[in-house]
Amino acid sequence: MKTDREFALNFGSDVTLIKRREILLTQSNDNEVVIYIVRNLLVEAGFRIVDEFMVASAASELATNILRYAGKGTLEIGIVRDTRDTFGIELFASDTGPGIRNIEEAMCDRISTTKNSLGSGLPSVKRIMDEFYIESIPGKGTRVLARKWRRYGEG
Ligand SMILES: Nc1ncnc2c1ncn2[C@@H]1O[C@H](COP(=O)(O)OP(=O)(O)OP(=O)(O)O)[C@@H](O)[C@H]1O
Ligand SMILES: [Mg+2]
Repeated sequence: MKTDREFALNFGSDVTLIKRREILLTQSNDNEVVIYIVRNLLVEAGFRIVDEFMVASAASELATNILRYAGKGTLEIGIVRDTRDTFGIELFASDTGPGIRNIEEAMCDRISTTKNSLGSGLPSVKRIMDEFYIESIPGKGTRVLARKWRRYGEG
């Protein structure tokens, strides 16, 4: 069985992990911790305030899904650097919950298995972030890796 980090490295850009925070998600309050930690890391990585809000909401959507559908799981938030020294933020959400039967459908806007939900969480995470990968096995769990690159200078 691959470690989570090996899974993440198999996807997309060649990255170096600079800093990492892992948040265990077990109760809805943990979402506030997610937003707090992700915003701090975004500031540290030199992201602008607009991106800070967008990426924090993406992280919050992933955390909400874990709490709602899997009950518990983890969110790893990292500052990463690519081979051209561009800084970025990485979100890696993983759980061992029920999994998603039809990923294509789950990635469509307005498709939700929850009543009165917009069903736009995952599609908006994909829109906000530059890289987005999802792997889910019914009965085993779900893993989402997403990265946002800071394509501008400091300040
Ligand atoms: N971690 C997960 N484990 C199991 N199923 C999930 C997980 N995340 C998402 N899903 C499934 O994928 C569907 C789409 O998720 P998405 O976040 O896009 O919308 P939603 O959670 O239904 O609504 P919203 O996020 O707008 O409140 C969900 O309805 C759910 O069935
Ligand atoms: Mg959702």
